[in-house]
Amino acid sequence: MEINRIERYWLLAVTTVLGAFAAATIVALAFFGIRLPSPVDRIDPRNLEQTEFARPGIRQLSGNRYEAYIVAKSWAFEAGPGLGNPPTLRFPVGSEVTFYVTSVDVMHGFQIEDHTANLELVPGQIARTTVRFNRPGKYSIICNHYCGAGHHVMYATIQVE
Ligand code: CUA
Repeated sequence: MEINRIERYWLLAVTTVLGAFAAATIVALAFFGIRLPSPVDRIDPRNLEQTEFARPGIRQLSGNRYEAYIVAKSWAFEAGPGLGNPPTLRFPVGSEVTFYVTSVDVMHGFQIEDHTANLELVPGQIARTTVRFNRPGKYSIICNHYCGAGHHVMYATIQVE
């Protein structure tokens, strides 16, 4: 079969680009710990009181391991009492934190600055991600999914010290 010379170049270009994408995916999985967030469980947003999200907040599991339950609603992240508004979550350097986040109204986002955490918050769906905080500093949690008039003020802060 005769393949036109220009067509051959295009085939080569397409194969090279697809190969580069596949290689980038494999490198991200193997060396940078990039994972797709997996579905955890569902809740009924109208019955939040019946779930672990009735009392959002930080719980220390052991040593440097924590979990944080956070509720997203237009237009704030609720992370428990006494953390301020918008809340500031404090963790010691070296902490490993598993975030459980859900939305009770519309789609929101949950992205932690400078860390590999980027969740899509679907109402009624629990999203989970685990993050290790190795460097002291102040990192924003932002809603990166347009969710209405207050989208730009929907954020929280993580203080690693
Ligand atoms: Cu919540 Cu944008």
